[in-house]
Amino acid sequence: MSLTTMGGDGLHVESVALGDIAARFGTPCYVYSRAALTATYAAYRDALQAHGLADRSLVCYAVKANSNLAILNLFARLGAGFDIVSGGELARVLAAGGSAGKIVFSGVGKSRAEMRAALEAGIHCFNVESASELDQLDEVAGSLGRRAPVSLRVNPDVDAKTHPYISTGLKTAKFGIAFGEAFDIYRRAAHLPHIAVRGIDCHIGSQLLDPAPAAEAADKVLALVDRLAAAGIALEHIDLGGGMGIQYRADEPAPPVADYLAPMLAKLAGRREKLVFEPGRSLVGNAGLLLTRVQVLKPGEEKHFAVVDAAMNDLMRPALYDAWHDIVPVSATKVGAGDTATAMPYEIVGPVCESGDFLGHDRKLALNEGDLLAILSAGAYGMAMASNYNSRPRAAEVMVDGDATHLIRHREEVPELFALESVLP
Ligand code: LLP
Repeated sequence: MSLTTMGGDGLHVESVALGDIAARFGTPCYVYSRAALTATYAAYRDALQAHGLADRSLVCYAVKANSNLAILNLFARLGAGFDIVSGGELARVLAAGGSAGKIVFSGVGKSRAEMRAALEAGIHCFNVESASELDQLDEVAGSLGRRAPVSLRVNPDVDAKTHPYISTGLKTAKFGIAFGEAFDIYRRAAHLPHIAVRGIDCHIGSQLLDPAPAAEAADKVLALVDRLAAAGIALEHIDLGGGMGIQYRADEPAPPVADYLAPMLAKLAGRREKLVFEPGRSLVGNAGLLLTRVQVLKPGEEKHFAVVDAAMNDLMRPALYDAWHDIVPVSATKVGAGDTATAMPYEIVGPVCESGDFLGHDRKLALNEGDLLAILSAGAYGMAMASNYNSRPRAAEVMVDGDATHLIRHREEVPELFALESVLP
């Protein structure tokens, strides 16, 4: 389903006009669609079902993509598990009603306190990324009188062909255990007293549009699983990570979930192990947008600037990765006294004091001051990466559900920004 439709009163999310949301909750404001979130989760379940894998698979939503409690709660209600990378994410998932037994814990630098909290909660599995982490986890589990369920995250040395900042599966990356060392570390893990070897894990990068690198990584992982089984180490599950990309712009379509997963699922269909995925972006990215208002128009000799009330602190992806987000007007522009309704190429920028503070370059739009714009595909790594840079309160977040709108995070108030600080005595 598409997130937005145009009606007489402008762009809608489900049955709610974005103009009404701006009037009620202000801007900048993240807007999510419950129906869109539900549909993307269903696409994963359907794809697994089509390969006969529904009963022995777990879709663990990668919390880092968007960790709002309402979103976590929605996925928990749909039956999802969760992929976490910190004690903070563990606490969020539990607070949102997620079940500990469906949590996998990824990340290259888990602290002992985080290991302890996850063991006490009783998570499904730790995705261990180094030999040292394995020893530390063995020790922490021992101190609690428990055995830690473990997968080794292997690095298959496959080029995901995505942005270098979000590519994780090459030898040069900090992630995972080198493929050539994994077999020996498994053998060692099998003998550690407080470790229970359960599975294998692999995640090669994010925003992948071609399924081939992930399928190549799956081949390598499966070969290792078979070699381990022959050596008497039988794994219960295979975690193929996340990474499926979404469509950000018209000329870069993303394959449907079923097509992207098909080559991987075909390899898994005849096997006995359970299957885990850790999708983040593909579950939430296109289910959210950032609503913003044009503050000031600054026509110039070289470039025309539209300064909007959202900025790099609200949506960091353009500044950080030079990422593209489509930006569309919420209403067809009214032509009235003083209006500049002619479409021209605008630099869509925020009020933050950095030249890197842009949300879109060279966007052909007909704009008036006060117009609302929707920055699309902002449901993943949008609010989750937002900051208070320039002492800007973070945006409100709302969830549309049919014709209802729920505030799921109130707009931060300025005093909240310095409430944790104190001056010298
Ligand atoms: N599993 C692991 C171990 C990960 O590191 C990640 C993402 C995922 C799963 C989920 O990947 P996804 O399905 O969302 O591609 N901030 C960047 C993306 C960083 C991804 C980090 N790891 C962005 O805005 O593009």
